Amino acid sequence: MERLQKRIAHSGVTSRRKAEELIKAGRVKVNGQVITEMGYLVGPKDTVEVDSVQLETEEKRYYCLNKPRGVISSVSDDRGRKTIIDILPPELKQYRLYPVGRLDYDTKGIILITNDGDFTNLMIGPNSGIQKEYLVRVKGIINDMVLAKLEKGLKTNIAEYLPALCEIESIDKRNQSSLVRIILTEGQNHQVKEMFEAIGYPVKRLTRVRFGNITIENLPEGAVRSLSIHEVKQLRVLATEEKILKREPIHKYRIY
Ligand code: URA
Repeated sequence: MERLQKRIAHSGVTSRRKAEELIKAGRVKVNGQVITEMGYLVGPKDTVEVDSVQLETEEKRYYCLNKPRGVISSVSDDRGRKTIIDILPPELKQYRLYPVGRLDYDTKGIILITNDGDFTNLMIGPNSGIQKEYLVRVKGIINDMVLAKLEKGLKTNIAEYLPALCEIESIDKRNQSSLVRIILTEGQNHQVKEMFEAIGYPVKRLTRVRFGNITIENLPEGAVRSLSIHEVKQLRVLATEEKILKREPIHKYRIY
């Protein structure tokens, strides 16, 4: 169910504020009856008319994008920076798409894009157990003892973070940096950067390589593809999973 003014706005007829004016003016009918009540709830099967013209319901669309660095994950930017909508292929720009959650301006990798508000809430709501996997290049030579702090769950003066799974991918002694794979079940603002900052290893570069079942594999930087119905269904199931991470067999990391 959604509010009547939201349904009108989503159908592309007008903005939500203008939709409220139309409702107040008695120009909106639901199932043939004039409704002037603000916030009246309509379901997918209800027919809505504005000035006796029936609204089409927008087809739900789901995509994933491999976001490059230097692109903001919102639909517009008051500082004139490039947005993820700017980099979509022209044929997708006609839809009212927006990102599912955010990646920082300087983070690259997988981000979902949709016009389905309920799906978005399910993916990024506080109860979503969707796993997010990142490759993190940090300053300094890291070790498992330090990473154990992130695996236990971490409380800083900014926030409290649930246990994560961490794995060292490689150590670069020459450049004094390390590459770590981390899996989270939540998505607080700047979470990865703040977690590593808190243990004394500032993040140099960050890439999200997986969101639930959607991986970065075979998706070149800047490219977008639509999700299959099966992938969307799987995502809905994954969102209901418990936020408990189980470790896969540990692999040995490279030192160079
Ligand atoms: N964590 C961060 O710090 N930044 C991102 O973009 C995503 C996760």
